Amino acid sequence: MSEPNGEIRRHPVLDRILHWMLVLAFFFTVASGFALFHPALFFLANLTGGGPWSALLHPFLGLAMMFFFFWFALRHWRDNQIGKRDIQWLKQFSDVMTHKEERLPEQDKYNAGQKMLYYILLLCMIGLLLTGIAVWRRYFSDYFPVGIVRWGLLLHAFAAFVLVASVFGHIAFAVWVKGSIRSMFRGTVTPGWAYKHHRAWFRKVIGEAQQTNASGFRNDVPAK
Ligand code: HEM
Repeated sequence: MSEPNGEIRRHPVLDRILHWMLVLAFFFTVASGFALFHPALFFLANLTGGGPWSALLHPFLGLAMMFFFFWFALRHWRDNQIGKRDIQWLKQFSDVMTHKEERLPEQDKYNAGQKMLYYILLLCMIGLLLTGIAVWRRYFSDYFPVGIVRWGLLLHAFAAFVLVASVFGHIAFAVWVKGSIRSMFRGTVTPGWAYKHHRAWFRKVIGEAQQTNASGFRNDVPAK
């Protein structure tokens, strides 16, 4: 877990590839979806080759986004299980916003806010996938009654709205917590970052590193 430069590995290379592919697919899916949603946003169709191309590509881009998301989410399932310390963290959300982290229970790899985002994104993606199939005229819509297709369109737009708003929040928090975005590029964080923001995870990682040390296999535990 600890790197030769004294940093701690947080995101293995596969997770980083999946995350940034997900971001790319999300960006083009949203651009083409917005272009189809309202004439005022039609200019966004230029990003995906104009009106007809946007309409054609949007469902396939959405499927690419699903593919990267579900793979990424599956790899993060265990780290997002809710525990007692998460409930306490949520109760003390005002301390989070005022940077009084010393008052909060120690956090594991992801904090309760990140875990909530994880489940909101998961629900949105499942909703978008199911409604997206029902409203995909070219292949599937004929199999559904018109009432279902109409409700499908409404729910599809609603799920997309919640997803986009949540991702904006996710980006804002990623920018707010210094060193976080860097970790999604480099894969590592400093011991100080881990100790400050995710102390329970830090203790676990350092504990594991010391155990391997004690058994004589490695000798590269970073100084605190
Ligand atoms: C420019 C856009 C984005 C930036 C800068 C960004 C940044 C990050 C960073 C820094 C992390 C790691 C946080 C940590 O180590 O504590 C992360 C994790 C994550 N990101 Fe993003 N992200 C972006 C877009 C997205 C999008 C579009 C999605 C999904 C639709 C997404 C879903 C996730 C998920 C599920 C995690 C793992 C959190 C968990 O498992 O609780 N991100 N992101």
